[in-house]
Amino acid sequence: MIANINDTRLSFVDEGQGQPILLVHGFPLSRAIWQPQIEALSKYFRVIAPDLRGHGESEAPDGVYDMNIFANDLEALLEARQCGPVVLVGHSMGGYISFDFYRRYTQKVRGLVLFCTRAGADSEEGKASRENLAQRAEREGAAAVAEQMLPKMLAAATTSSRPDLVAQVRQIMLATSIYGMAGALRGMAARPSSVDLLPKIAAPTLVIAGTGDLIIPTQEAEAMARAIPNAQLRLISKAGHLASLENASEVNAILQNFLVSLA
Ligand code: MLT
Repeated sequence: MIANINDTRLSFVDEGQGQPILLVHGFPLSRAIWQPQIEALSKYFRVIAPDLRGHGESEAPDGVYDMNIFANDLEALLEARQCGPVVLVGHSMGGYISFDFYRRYTQKVRGLVLFCTRAGADSEEGKASRENLAQRAEREGAAAVAEQMLPKMLAAATTSSRPDLVAQVRQIMLATSIYGMAGALRGMAARPSSVDLLPKIAAPTLVIAGTGDLIIPTQEAEAMARAIPNAQLRLISKAGHLASLENASEVNAILQNFLVSLA
């Protein structure tokens, strides 16, 4: 489906009925990373999964995509779909967006799932490498960014044993527009730290991390879970940064249990 949200055409799915769950993908990806979850969870819940602006099948305006711009898109999409409070699931950059969403639209979050993500801001070095990568996207196109990021996206064992999944993730990345890549990279570099928010999170929270995540070490997920009152932590075996695809059955079972516990 397509909706015009904040003057931008966003592509999304809205499937199933019951407790709404909003799946927010990371960078430079699309809702395709949630396909196994959309299929499994929409049997029991209402699942809304957008392609963020600049990603997947959504429109890609020029400019810096600050995390609050993405969060405003999500809020406007929920309004357009007449959707009440959601269980918000944010993968990586989707988690950075979820922190901003939670800060400003607290009442719209019934539960929070922080999925292969972190609360801290970028270091100065991290910001500089984001800018380099943004310029590389503008100069050389999406493929250059995809090739640079691909080796870190999946656990080492997934990369060596599942060429089909490697090819699928490459295709997902290549669908991201150059504007989307540059805009999101600059937006992530500018994001503030959300570490101060963690002890104030009152929504039931689940932290999920892949044991083989090469981008966000599990120790970071563990520390984040400790900082959030009553958060649960689940580590996904046989998975890296894209646990939703690498070990979909374990992720589906964990999400389903969490959603049922909130019902
Ligand atoms: C993502 O998956 O969204 C990115 O790897 C996050 C990041 O680069 O910080």
